[in-house]
Amino acid sequence: MAKIGIFFGSTEGNTERVVNLIQESFGDDAELHNVNSASADDMQEYSYLILACPTWEIGRLQEDWDSFIDEIENVDYTGKKVTYLGLGDADGYPDTFLDALGIIHDRIKDKGASFVGTWPTDGYNFNTSKGVMNGKFLGLAIDEDNQKDLTQSRVEKWVQELKNEFI
Ligand SMILES: Cc1cc2nc3c(=O)[nH]c(=O)nc-3n(C[C@H](O)[C@H](O)[C@H](O)COP(=O)(O)O)c2cc1C
Repeated sequence: MAKIGIFFGSTEGNTERVVNLIQESFGDDAELHNVNSASADDMQEYSYLILACPTWEIGRLQEDWDSFIDEIENVDYTGKKVTYLGLGDADGYPDTFLDALGIIHDRIKDKGASFVGTWPTDGYNFNTSKGVMNGKFLGLAIDEDNQKDLTQSRVEKWVQELKNEFI
């Protein structure tokens, strides 16, 4: 059985493309679930979770995540490792860059999971983000609007690091 569940929402397809890259890098160990048709029971099956959400509408969750967000509080996170993938546009929305990560994290941070896969903020031109904690992004930060050429190498480096966590 796959150990890694990747739960994503994507309005315009950017996040979907990136989670496909991530899934391919992990191979049979990882499975994709669109949150528009997922449940807490689906999340419960995995030891490792990647929660992937773009920020929309100036600091808000992507619409399918907005409908799904209550569901993630119904998971027993004991023993699970959780990380995040955030997509955003740092030039267009520098004051709410990747806010969705912080919004999701707030819902589950005290529920017993360990959080892994943080990512440095170097190289991203933004002002403020709810997705930053202790000086690092809560998970992988991808900007398809301005730094598309860096996506592949960022994904490869992050997945390599995660393979040491997801064992
Ligand atoms: C109307 C609108 C509002 C947006 N608001 C934000 C925002 O507040 N913060 C951010 O980082 N990105 C914001 N974005 C950028 C999207 O998150 C980005 O384009 C992302 O790649 C979309 O992912 P998706 O194709 O998976 O839906 C916004 C984009 C649009 C068009």
